[in-house]
Amino acid sequence: MKVLVLNGPNLASLGRREPMIYGKGTLAELSDAVSDRAKALGCDVIFFQSNHEGALIDEIEKERDADAVIVNPGALGHTSYALYDALRGFAKPVIEVHISQVFAREEFRHRSVTAAAAHAVISGLGFSGYLLALDYLAKMLKK
Ligand code: DQA
Repeated sequence: MKVLVLNGPNLASLGRREPMIYGKGTLAELSDAVSDRAKALGCDVIFFQSNHEGALIDEIEKERDADAVIVNPGALGHTSYALYDALRGFAKPVIEVHISQVFAREEFRHRSVTAAAAHAVISGLGFSGYLLALDYLAKMLKK
Protein backbone atom coordinates (compact mmCIF):
# COMPACT_ATOMS: atom_id res chain seq x y z
CA MET A 1 0.00 0.00 0.00
CA LYS A 2 1.33 3.39 -0.98
CA VAL A 3 -0.07 6.66 0.40
CA LEU A 4 0.71 10.12 -0.93
CA VAL A 5 0.74 12.73 1.85
CA LEU A 6 0.42 16.24 0.42
CA ASN A 7 0.85 19.52 2.26
CA GLY A 8 -0.02 22.82 0.63
CA PRO A 9 1.05 26.44 1.02
CA ASN A 10 2.65 27.73 4.21
CA LEU A 11 2.87 24.33 5.86
CA ALA A 12 6.67 24.38 5.48
CA SER A 13 6.63 27.04 8.21
CA LEU A 14 5.00 24.78 10.79
CA GLY A 15 6.63 25.33 14.17
CA ARG A 16 7.20 29.04 13.45
CA ARG A 17 3.81 29.91 12.00
CA GLU A 18 1.12 30.89 14.54
CA PRO A 19 2.12 28.20 17.07
CA MET A 20 -0.98 28.96 19.17
CA ILE A 21 -3.03 27.65 16.25
CA TYR A 22 -0.80 25.07 14.56
CA GLY A 23 1.40 23.96 17.48
CA LYS A 24 5.17 23.92 17.81
CA GLY A 25 5.88 20.84 15.69
CA THR A 26 7.77 21.35 12.44
CA LEU A 27 7.06 19.88 9.02
CA ALA A 28 10.12 17.61 9.46
CA GLU A 29 8.67 16.33 12.74
CA LEU A 30 5.33 15.73 11.05
CA SER A 31 7.08 13.85 8.26
CA ASP A 32 8.93 11.68 10.82
CA ALA A 33 5.73 10.91 12.74
CA VAL A 34 3.93 9.96 9.52
CA SER A 35 6.77 7.77 8.32
CA ASP A 36 7.05 6.01 11.73
CA ARG A 37 3.34 5.25 11.68
CA ALA A 38 3.52 4.11 8.05
CA LYS A 39 6.36 1.74 8.93
CA ALA A 40 4.33 0.28 11.80
CA LEU A 41 1.38 -0.21 9.44
CA GLY A 42 3.57 -1.69 6.71
CA CYS A 43 2.82 0.94 4.12
CA ASP A 44 4.92 3.23 1.94
CA VAL A 45 4.51 6.96 2.15
CA ILE A 46 5.48 9.76 -0.22
CA PHE A 47 5.55 13.01 1.80
CA PHE A 48 5.42 16.18 -0.27
CA GLN A 49 4.96 19.88 0.48
CA SER A 50 4.66 22.78 -1.92
CA ASN A 51 3.51 26.38 -1.80
CA HIS A 52 2.39 26.06 -5.42
CA GLU A 53 -0.95 24.75 -6.62
CA GLY A 54 0.48 23.34 -9.88
CA ALA A 55 3.27 21.47 -8.08
CA LEU A 56 0.70 19.72 -5.86
CA ILE A 57 -1.33 18.77 -8.93
CA ASP A 58 1.82 17.53 -10.71
CA GLU A 59 2.61 15.33 -7.68
CA ILE A 60 -0.87 13.77 -7.74
CA GLU A 61 -0.38 13.04 -11.44
CA LYS A 62 3.15 11.67 -10.87
CA GLU A 63 2.05 9.38 -8.02
CA ARG A 64 -1.17 8.24 -9.70
CA ASP A 65 -0.35 4.62 -8.85
CA ALA A 66 -0.64 5.45 -5.08
CA ASP A 67 -3.52 3.74 -3.28
CA ALA A 68 -4.69 6.81 -1.38
CA VAL A 69 -4.00 10.48 -0.72
CA ILE A 70 -3.93 12.35 2.57
CA VAL A 71 -4.04 16.06 1.78
CA ASN A 72 -3.74 19.18 3.85
CA PRO A 73 -4.42 21.71 1.11
CA GLY A 74 -3.80 24.72 3.38
CA ALA A 75 -5.66 27.77 2.08
CA LEU A 76 -5.97 26.16 -1.37
CA GLY A 77 -8.69 24.02 0.18
CA HIS A 78 -10.84 27.12 0.41
CA THR A 79 -10.28 28.26 -3.16
CA SER A 80 -8.81 25.73 -5.59
CA TYR A 81 -11.07 24.09 -8.14
CA ALA A 82 -7.94 22.88 -9.94
CA LEU A 83 -6.81 20.92 -6.88
CA TYR A 84 -10.38 19.65 -6.41
CA ASP A 85 -10.36 18.37 -10.01
CA ALA A 86 -6.99 16.66 -9.52
CA LEU A 87 -8.13 14.93 -6.32
CA ARG A 88 -11.40 13.90 -7.93
CA GLY A 89 -9.54 12.58 -10.96
CA PHE A 90 -7.30 10.50 -8.69
CA ALA A 91 -10.40 8.32 -8.17
CA LYS A 92 -9.12 6.50 -5.10
CA PRO A 93 -9.59 7.34 -1.39
CA VAL A 94 -8.67 10.88 -0.35
CA ILE A 95 -8.72 12.13 3.23
CA GLU A 96 -8.47 15.88 3.81
CA VAL A 97 -6.74 16.93 7.02
CA HIS A 98 -6.58 20.32 8.70
CA ILE A 99 -4.37 20.75 11.74
CA SER A 100 -6.60 23.48 13.16
CA GLN A 101 -10.37 23.39 13.69
CA VAL A 102 -11.21 25.43 10.62
CA PHE A 103 -14.92 25.67 11.48
CA ALA A 104 -14.10 27.54 14.68
CA ARG A 105 -12.00 30.11 12.80
CA GLU A 106 -12.64 32.89 10.26
CA GLU A 107 -15.68 32.48 8.05
CA PHE A 108 -13.66 32.00 4.83
CA ARG A 109 -12.15 28.83 6.34
CA HIS A 110 -15.57 27.23 6.86
CA ARG A 111 -15.84 26.37 3.19
CA SER A 112 -13.66 23.71 1.63
CA VAL A 113 -13.80 23.29 -2.13
CA THR A 114 -11.51 20.26 -2.07
CA ALA A 115 -13.45 18.44 0.69
CA ALA A 116 -16.07 17.45 -1.87
CA ALA A 117 -13.41 15.25 -3.51
CA ALA A 118 -12.57 13.60 -0.17
CA HIS A 119 -13.85 10.42 1.45
CA ALA A 120 -13.54 12.17 4.84
CA VAL A 121 -12.28 15.34 6.49
CA ILE A 122 -10.40 15.58 9.80
CA SER A 123 -10.10 19.06 11.27
CA GLY A 124 -8.69 20.24 14.58
CA LEU A 125 -6.75 17.22 15.83
CA GLY A 126 -3.30 18.63 15.15
CA PHE A 127 -0.70 16.23 13.70
CA SER A 128 -2.79 13.30 15.03
CA GLY A 129 -5.21 13.91 12.16
CA TYR A 130 -2.62 12.64 9.66
CA LEU A 131 -1.89 9.55 11.77
CA LEU A 132 -5.59 8.74 12.21
CA ALA A 133 -6.09 9.13 8.47
CA LEU A 134 -3.25 6.69 7.84
CA ASP A 135 -4.64 4.17 10.38
CA TYR A 136 -8.04 4.38 8.73
CA LEU A 137 -6.68 3.98 5.20
CA ALA A 138 -4.53 0.99 6.18
CA LYS A 139 -7.61 -0.72 7.64
CA MET A 140 -9.85 0.26 4.73
CA LEU A 141 -7.43 -0.80 2.00
CA LYS A 142 -6.70 -4.17 3.63
CA LYS A 143 -10.40 -5.13 3.35
C1 DQA B 1 -4.94 24.58 7.52
C2 DQA B 1 -6.15 25.53 7.68
C3 DQA B 1 -6.23 26.50 6.52
O1 DQA B 1 -7.33 27.38 6.68
C4 DQA B 1 -4.96 27.34 6.46
O2 DQA B 1 -5.00 28.21 5.35
C5 DQA B 1 -3.72 26.52 6.46
C6 DQA B 1 -3.65 25.36 7.35
C7 DQA B 1 -4.79 23.66 8.75
O3 DQA B 1 -4.04 22.71 8.64
O4 DQA B 1 -5.40 23.91 9.79
O5 DQA B 1 -2.74 26.84 5.82
O6 DQA B 1 -5.15 23.76 6.40
